[in-house]
Amino acid sequence: MKADEYEHAPVLVNEVEQGLNIQADGIYVDCTFGRGGHSKVILRNLNDKGKLFVFDRDPEAIQVANQLATHDSRVKAFHSAFSGIFENLESEKVVGLVNGILFDLGVSSPQIDDPQRGFSFSISGELDMRMDPTSGLSARDWLNQSEESEISNVLRQFGEEKFSRRIARAIVEHRKIKPILTTLELAEIISDAVPYVDKHKHPATRTFQAIRILINDELEELKVGLSEAYKLLAVHGRLAVISFHSLEDRIVKRFIRQLSKNDPYPQDLPVKADQIKPELKQIGKLIRPPDRECEINPRARSARLRIAEKMAT
Ligand SMILES: C[S@@+](CC[C@H](N)C(=O)[O-])C[C@H]1O[C@@H](n2cnc3c(N)ncnc32)[C@H](O)[C@@H]1O
Repeated sequence: MKADEYEHAPVLVNEVEQGLNIQADGIYVDCTFGRGGHSKVILRNLNDKGKLFVFDRDPEAIQVANQLATHDSRVKAFHSAFSGIFENLESEKVVGLVNGILFDLGVSSPQIDDPQRGFSFSISGELDMRMDPTSGLSARDWLNQSEESEISNVLRQFGEEKFSRRIARAIVEHRKIKPILTTLELAEIISDAVPYVDKHKHPATRTFQAIRILINDELEELKVGLSEAYKLLAVHGRLAVISFHSLEDRIVKRFIRQLSKNDPYPQDLPVKADQIKPELKQIGKLIRPPDRECEINPRARSARLRIAEKMAT
């Protein structure tokens, strides 16, 4: 598969462009390059003094980013997870100088559409689900070696799956006969295990989401990514985060809320307003895509954007 064989339609493009409040000669970071849809939007607002650092843990995404970087000297690409962003940008000497940082979370359409990556329950492929297939445990290995109770806990915690125990039991029973190797095999085991089917959702949706989150350690990555991003930002620098499910959005919301309060004093202690120095300010409300965007791009339906600005400390 060639890295540029599949397209990704970026979501909430205008809202991200406005929310980042892009300075033409500023320094920006796209933590989730994908196929570069949002990066291109940032670049069209930068002059030749501007700089864009892009990151992705997926080698195919970084292959596309490197192609962009060879034609555009404002761009520098890094193959790294969120947990490595700070270290890389510390070497670039931009800590505290970044004007805007974007996270467009989750997986890209090229990852979902490529059967080899194993993210989709509707296309036959090997059960992999690693955003970076060069490191870590694949979904297949995890699924075939984990305890039933662990599988059930993961499905409940990361998929909010109410039939987690039934599905975990069915997985363990099935693998006594033969290992589970493909996406469709797993999807069928789940469909057979659940007592009834929601008309609007494939029964494997939540299980696939849960396994993907676990395999890529997505929630911990997000927590680390957000706090590292805060350290990288300049005063008045903007943070923009697009999430696609409630577990992600909850982390983003709490992070912004906590740093917006930054009130270390006990609740009943009277404090003067100038003793509380918020580190972040939420900009506007939660942004959802307009209906017309969801009609054109169904993936946009679950997207939620939050914007925050770093305050003077
Ligand atoms: C929704 S796509 C981004 C699409 C991109 N905004 C575009 O317009 O093409 C998410 C991307 O983030 C990457 N990603 C997700 N979690 C990551 C993490 N913890 N570290 C680095 N990259 C991550 C995925 O590999 C994927 O390519």
